[in-house]
Parts: sequence; C-alpha cells; structure tokens
Amino acid sequence: MKKITTKSIQSQLILYFTIAILMPAVITSIVGVKLIYNQIITRAETKTLSDLNSAGEIFRNKIVQIESIARLTSARSLIVKALIENNKIFLQKDLLRTLTRENLDVLTILDKNGHLISRSRKFEPGEHSFIEDKFVRRVIDTKRIVKGVDIVSREYLENESEQLADQAAMEIISTLKAKPRTEQKETSGMMLKAAVPIFEDNGKFVGVLIAGVLLNRNFEIVDKIKEVVHEGENYHGSEIGTATIFQHDLRISTNVKNQDGSRAISTLVSEEINEEVLQYGNRYVGEAFVVNSWYISAYEPIRDIDNNIIGILYVGILKKPFEDVLRNTLITFLSIALGGIVLIILIAARMAKRISTPLKRIEDIANKIADGDYHQEITITAPREIERLAGSINRMAKELETEKRELEEWGNKLEVKVLERTDEIKKIHAQLFRSEKLASLGKLAAGVAHEINNPLTGILTNSSLLLEDLPVNDPRREDVDVIVKETIRCREIVKRLLDFARQTKPQKQLVSINEIIENIILLVRNQTSFRNIQVQKNLQENLPEIMADRDQIQQVFINIIINASEAMSKGGLLSISTVILPTNNSMIITFKDNGPGIPESIREKIFDPFFTTKEQGTGLGLSISYGIIEQHGGDINVESSLDLGTTFTIQLPINSIESE
Ligand SMILES: Nc1ncnc2c1ncn2[C@@H]1O[C@H](COP(=O)(O)OP(=O)(O)O)[C@@H](O)[C@H]1O
Ligand SMILES: [Mg+2]
Repeated sequence: MKKITTKSIQSQLILYFTIAILMPAVITSIVGVKLIYNQIITRAETKTLSDLNSAGEIFRNKIVQIESIARLTSARSLIVKALIENNKIFLQKDLLRTLTRENLDVLTILDKNGHLISRSRKFEPGEHSFIEDKFVRRVIDTKRIVKGVDIVSREYLENESEQLADQAAMEIISTLKAKPRTEQKETSGMMLKAAVPIFEDNGKFVGVLIAGVLLNRNFEIVDKIKEVVHEGENYHGSEIGTATIFQHDLRISTNVKNQDGSRAISTLVSEEINEEVLQYGNRYVGEAFVVNSWYISAYEPIRDIDNNIIGILYVGILKKPFEDVLRNTLITFLSIALGGIVLIILIAARMAKRISTPLKRIEDIANKIADGDYHQEITITAPREIERLAGSINRMAKELETEKRELEEWGNKLEVKVLERTDEIKKIHAQLFRSEKLASLGKLAAGVAHEINNPLTGILTNSSLLLEDLPVNDPRREDVDVIVKETIRCREIVKRLLDFARQTKPQKQLVSINEIIENIILLVRNQTSFRNIQVQKNLQENLPEIMADRDQIQQVFINIIINASEAMSKGGLLSISTVILPTNNSMIITFKDNGPGIPESIREKIFDPFFTTKEQGTGLGLSISYGIIEQHGGDINVESSLDLGTTFTIQLPINSIESE
C-alpha cells in the first residue's frame, strides 16, 4: 500500500487506466473470440451438413439418371424385338452405342431367368448367369425397377471388361489414424446400378436390363458436388469444398488433392469415422484433418438396397477461411485495446501533468512560505480543486504575513515603551536623587554659612582696619591686602551658598522672558570675556508674559551664558532663542554655543552641587539654576556633542497664572 502512495500521479493514472481498459479488452477478446469461434464453427458445421444433403441429392440423382437410361432403353421396341428374336449381334451393337453415349460402364441384357443375353462391351454366349446378382433377383421376383449402390466383385467387373476391373483395383495406402486392414489390396468396386424389367407389348416379362456406373476412380460425382455446392470456390489456391466417396473405409473417388496435386484416393478413413459412420450408421459432423489441411467435415453412410452400410459419402469445407476470420477478429480486438492503452497513456500523462505541475508550484511556494517568505502568491490555471487549494494557501500566506507584521509592531512598540519607561524612571530617579541631595546640602550649607559668616565679618572688619592703619610703604600691607581680598572671596562664596541653601520661594510677577534676555545681552556685551563671542538671538515675537521671579530667572540665564563664554574662551557663537510650544502650552528657551562640548562621562554630573571642571569654579551655577527652574514648574536639559558644542534647553510653563 505504502509503495503505491509514493508513486507519481502520472504512473498511477496510467496503471489504473491501463488495468481499466486491459481487463475488459482481454475479457471481451476471450469471450468474443470464443463466441465468434463457436458461431463460425456451428455455422460451418450447419453449412457442411446442408452441403452433405446436397451431395446426397446429387449422388441419388445420378442413380435416377442411370435408372432413366435403363428404363428408356428397356422400353425401346427394337430392343424388345431383338431380345425375343435373340438377335445378340444387334443388341450388342445397340447397347454399346447407348453405353458410350450415356457414359455408362455397364449395360447388359438378361433373359427372364437372369441368364446373359448380351452385354455392351464383350460378346460372350449365354453360359454366364446373373442369378446371384441381388438386383436381378429382385427384378425377377418383383418385376419392378431396382436401383441403388452395389459392391461388385473383380470377377463381375472382369466379365464386363478387364479395363473396368483395373479401374476398380486399388493398392491401399496406409495412414496413421486409419484402422488398418488385413489385405493390402482392394479388388472389388462400388457401382451405381439400376436393373429394370423388360416387357413385351402384351405385358409379358421377358428379361432384365442392367445399367451401371463404376464409382472407383470416377470423379464425375465428386466434382459435380464441388461445382454445385461450392461453385468451385478457391481460397489462396486451395479448393474450399471437397467431396469424397468411400467404398467401405477406402477412398475411391475424391477431389481432395495430395501434395503433388493428384487426387488422394486409395487411403482409408480414420478409425473414429469408421466406427461412428460405418459401424453405427450415424452421420458425423466435425473437424477433421484430411491429407494436409483441417476441414469442417460431414460424413453419412451409403447403404445398399438391403440397407447394409457399404460406404461413406463425405463433404468438407476448408477450415482456414474461418480461422482467418477468427484471427482477423482477434487482431482487430487487440489492436483496438492497444490503441486504447496508447490513448489512455497519452491522456493520463496529460492529466497528470495538469495536476502535478500546479501541485509542484504550490509545493515550491508553500516551502517558501514555510521558510518565512510570505510575499508569495500562487497564480495558476489548474483543475478547480487545485485552484481552490492555491487560493487557500494564498489566504493563509496573507494572514500569516499580517500576523507577523502585527507581532513585529507589537514588539517594537513594546521595546519603545520599555525604553520610554526606563528613561522616565531614570529621570525621576535622578530628579529625586538630585532634589534630596540639594535639600540636605542646602540645610548643611545654610548651617555652615551662618556659622562662618560672623567670624568672616570680624576678619574682614579687622583686616580692613589694619590695612588702613598700616603706612603706605609698610611691607606687611601686601599680606594684609591678600587677607582682605580672600576674605571677600570667602564671603562671596558663603553668600552664594546661602543663596543656594535658601531655596527661597520665588517672588512671582508677570515678566517678559524676551525682555530679560535682551537686558542680559546688553549687560554682558561689553564684558572683556565676551570680546570674541558673537551673540545671535532668535526671539519669538508676541511671546506671552509669564509668572516668574525676575531675579531668579535672570540669574539662571546669566549662569548659563557665563558658562558658555567660559567654554568658548577663544571665541565662538552663542545663539539664544525663544519659542512657544502650543501643544504643551509652554515655552522653550535655548542657549546654544559651539564650544568643546561636555564629555559623556560627566554629562550627568554637571547639575550636581560643587561639580566643576574649572580651577576657580564653585560648581554651584547649574545646580542653583536647576533648583530655580524646578521651583517654576519647568525643566532644564542639556544636549552636547564633543567639538560641535552644547545646547541648554529650558522649558517654562505659560499657564503659570492659573497654577498659582
Ligand atoms: N557651556 C558649557 N560648555 C562646556 N562645559 C560646561 C558648559 N556649561 C557648564 N559646563 C560644565 O559644567 C560644570 C558645572 O558648571 P557650574 O555648575 O556652572 O559650575 P562652574 O561654572 O563653577 O564650574 C562646569 O565646570 C563645566 O565643566
Ligand atoms: Mg558656572
């Protein structure tokens, strides 16, 4: 089973179709040939039997013909007169004339006792008696015509003529199937005979006339049968119809030919026919091998006047024409079957191709889909079922593709979401951290500043007084001057610390951010540190005023601008811009420099208090700014790339009035 399923559609179709056509073809051929054979043979046998009837008729007609001649001759008055007058010379001459004219072998006149008066061929005195002759006896007894077939002895024939005796004599040729005979020679003959009574005018019985024809080596009857029944038909040079007369079992007259073309006489009938026809007296119909061919044959017994079987009449038709019809029929049947098979193979191959080619395509594309390539569409013309299959696969591929895309989108979204959240968490975390740090640092710084402030004031007052008291050229003045200056610097730091620590609630009022920026630019432009720096502003017109602490915001902007100028100590470009973000209902202020940028490693730390990269830096500028912006509900961010510069972005809410 398994093996069959792995075969190709094509071979399976061819196999099954071939079986489907071969089986009925073979059965039809066998049955048909058998039927036809039976039909033909039955027909042939029926025909042979009817031929046999015709042959029998011809055979009997010949007897009747002989009888007629005998009757007419016996009735002639000259003959009767010569018989009464015993004019043997006249009789002999007259009989010979008739014999020759009518093609008879025997024509003899006897007296009323059966003694010879005259015979056509030999003139002999009347010592010879015919009283033993069955025919003569019966005529004398009954005074009626007697006719039929008779077996006559060699002596009988010799009396008639030596030549006639020789015509009858035959050396028997033995054949395989025949029942052998003891004697090797047949000397007697078979004769068609008619014996008629001769009457005087007054009706007195005066004699007997015998007319006869010897059948041995006389082919008139058999050839006539052939002519009449088969019209001398030929089949490939062989005569279709044949007829034979047997004397007992011996062929004495026939038109069956030997190989050399001579007539096949002197042979014996087969044992089977011998038994069936000669012994049992039956008719026989069947196939028989005669001399060298098969014949459909019919045999019937020939009987004498006492109804004894003395011979056989045979007719046969050549079997070959029938066999040929049969063979041609068979060839036709098989050719049709063969043609059918060829046709089936062609059709099956085509059908299989129509099925397997699109299937192969579907398979290829299905494999591609399985490998993840969903951009596949099967376009084929194929039987409806296969087209439907292709349609299903197309749908499946499309659905797979959509689902895959959705999955990918989901994945991407998820990733973005996770990143966003992580960022947010990081930011919040950093903010919290920074706020907490600022708050605790603020407290600490406030305490420390407060404690330092008083001593510092004392130091400053006393050192200033000391400086005033010292003479102008006193060498200690320089040192005291350093003390005064450093103390002032310390006080400055402490002040800043306090500013940072105070984290005072902003004193908000409506301010214009653009105006604050303009003022600062005016303020810093003439500073020496800005000499090489070009300031470019890009301020949005009609920027709404917002609620903010002017001083604190100003401080933030100054911190950032100063940082930028310090970063671009060799000169550069500072761009300041303002813009409204309508969506957020907030404004964005950016400060962009083209300084060296902030390295990635410290970018996170610049808002930390006391973080600085400068020798003289406090590290408080950005952390204070951060706190101020936070207090205003805004946001401060930095973007920086090395060599390109740094951009600080401050976002401030516009609706600060409502939020107050
Ligand atoms: N525009 C800028 N370009 C490069 N670095 C900057 C810029 N602004 C701030 N920084 C970095 O941030 C640090 C912290 O600044 P800040 O808090 O103002 O303290 P300080 O200016 O006293 O160092 C600076 O030391 C500097 O390294
Ligand atoms: Mg600074």
